[in-house]
Amino acid sequence: MHENDKRLAAKAALVEVRQGMKIGLGTGSTACHFVDLVGGLVREGLACVCVPTSVATERQARALGIPLAELDEVGRLDLTVDGADEVDPALNLIKGGGGALLREKIVAAATDRMVVIADGTKKVDHLGRFPLPIEINPFAAGTTTRAVQNVARQSGCRGSIVLRESADGHPFLTDGGHFILDASFGLISAPEALSRALLDIPGVVQHGLFLGMCKVAYLADNGTVTQLGA
Ligand code: 5RP
Repeated sequence: MHENDKRLAAKAALVEVRQGMKIGLGTGSTACHFVDLVGGLVREGLACVCVPTSVATERQARALGIPLAELDEVGRLDLTVDGADEVDPALNLIKGGGGALLREKIVAAATDRMVVIADGTKKVDHLGRFPLPIEINPFAAGTTTRAVQNVARQSGCRGSIVLRESADGHPFLTDGGHFILDASFGLISAPEALSRALLDIPGVVQHGLFLGMCKVAYLADNGTVTQLGA
């Protein structure tokens, strides 16, 4: 059922696509549907240049024949379509469940219109139910983890903070070679303050709070697509 909704949300976002656009391609199982659909449009004659947000998305897009470029080559993007782990009513997001949050945020920040696609389970009243991914440098990861724990406590966030592991039991490595902490806060009551405090920690590379970046979300719930934002 969720897979069907993911596809529906991805299809709904195709109204955002125009000839000649520079498009950021998100990462994850929902973004994967959008990439697949863009591949179809390219085969039918859509002219576009796309910037992938992960190695996995780059592989998929390349296999589909989607024209790709580095973000540095194209500068700003017209549109980015990406998934999310949580979307609140103000279109603030938690992202990074798939571990691509750093490139996703760099690409989103260089985009005129960031669009989120998701199934209805991602809609929340308040951010924090999904563990917040925090990307950290592997150097002195223990020291950085303790600093993150202190910042969380000072920001009124409780809950466990764990180092993400791969299936082989080793620390999960992002495309940039960093670690990820997953912080199960339950409720993030002051996301802006938490965001700033986390970024003040030297070993924190980036975190999965995407605040004020998303313009519109297409959320599909049991076959019905709702648009949030404009
Ligand atoms: C990857 C992400 C994904 O967009 C997010 O985790 C949602 O993934 P999915 O569509 O598979 O539920 O932020 O870093």
